[in-house]
Amino acid sequence: SNTEPITRCLCIFLVTALITSITKILLLQREFHLFYQVFRHGDHTPQEFFPTDNHREVARQQGYGQLTKLGIQQQYELGQYMRRRYSYFLSVVYKQCEIYVQSTDCDHTLMSAQASLAGLYPPTQGEIWNPRILWQPIPVHTVPLSHDNLLYLPFSHCPRYSELLRETFETRDFQRQFKQYKVKYFQFWKSTPIKDLAKCWKKKLISWDINNYTLPVWATHGVRTKLIKLSELLLQAEFGFHKRIQKSRLQGGILLKNILKHISDARKPSHQQKMVMYSAHAATIVALQMALNVFNGKLPPYSACHFFELYQETNGQYTIEMYYRNNSLRGPHPLTLPGCKFRCPLERFTQLVYPVLDIKRGKLSVLGQSRWILNSIPVWYQNVKHIQAHIGILTLSLLSCLYLCIRMPNFPP
Ligand SMILES: *[C@@H]1O[C@H](CO)[C@@H](O)[C@H](O)[C@H]1NC(C)=O
Ligand SMILES: *[C@@H]1O[C@H](CO)[C@@H](O)[C@H](O)[C@H]1NC(C)=O
Repeated sequence: SNTEPITRCLCIFLVTALITSITKILLLQREFHLFYQVFRHGDHTPQEFFPTDNHREVARQQGYGQLTKLGIQQQYELGQYMRRRYSYFLSVVYKQCEIYVQSTDCDHTLMSAQASLAGLYPPTQGEIWNPRILWQPIPVHTVPLSHDNLLYLPFSHCPRYSELLRETFETRDFQRQFKQYKVKYFQFWKSTPIKDLAKCWKKKLISWDINNYTLPVWATHGVRTKLIKLSELLLQAEFGFHKRIQKSRLQGGILLKNILKHISDARKPSHQQKMVMYSAHAATIVALQMALNVFNGKLPPYSACHFFELYQETNGQYTIEMYYRNNSLRGPHPLTLPGCKFRCPLERFTQLVYPVLDIKRGKLSVLGQSRWILNSIPVWYQNVKHIQAHIGILTLSLLSCLYLCIRMPNFPP
């Protein structure tokens, strides 16, 4: 009959459409949108000294608080690792719009950022400006320490925070643990308030973990282990231990809010930035991980790096993954936000960390600021891209079928 070819055409069309749709779904990869990383600087010469030690000579030659050769190597390796990890995603050629780097205004963090960038962006053929120097300059942003409200933690000019800290040091639990780490060499313990002790100790101790310098005689392995434990306790006390959420709201939560805002913006189609890199300190990582409640209690080693990665899944949903790279000899540890899956949907993630973000609900002036979280991009909009692709494919197969039917009346036979 007359209608037979049309029916056949329709059948062919449906089958083609089905096959292409299935293929598309199978081929569809989740998309990588943005990654964010906060790392600790590499090995550096000490900034402060015990009266009896002999770091002085080393520092006199290299300058205080400078990245050492080992530190440069550590950071360069971190940069190379990022290049390998994101090679399919980040342009090989340096593009200004793709990456933003910020460092605290300290010599060793600025140097760390530059060493990492040297590993991340070795100049390509067209970028080489001197064949004997396989390096190219990449901008690193900074603000003076006195104005750093993002990376130079803890922010200590806050009466509420000082109060929380004082409370922490007075808890029985803290006092009990603190006693265990007393080292008899330091008589001044008795006369120094814990608050000041925390400050001066941390700075000195942290530069000790893997420094290759000759240590004073009293600094035996046992004493050093104790000191590292002590600095871990002090770091915990600064950002958690007691009233973690309240502290995080004044410390790591501020950084987390900034990161989530960037991540949220990255969903806009016009967004070109692919990577944000923060060069900072052990305290920055601890504060951030405390705010996320994923801190492992250990002093972050040199060049330790916390990654956030934003993906768009094939169903259009956005998810966040977190990793912690604290050992260059093995892959990074996946970190799971408590209460969520490892691959955590962005909405759920934001919901879970909401208590530490210091966004006052119901306040009109602040609402504008928090809109980015409350008005998350609706799912239908997220799906638009995928629906468009399907419609495109279906239209194409329909057109080709029509063409076949019209141009070849005898087709299919
Ligand atoms: C550490 O010190 C030793 C002895 O001075 C030296 O041989 C070695 O190269 C140093 N290692 C690093 C990584 O600087
Ligand atoms: C590195 O992080 C993992 C996960 O938190 C932890 O289990 C491990 O002990 C850490 N290693 C070091 C050297 O800090």
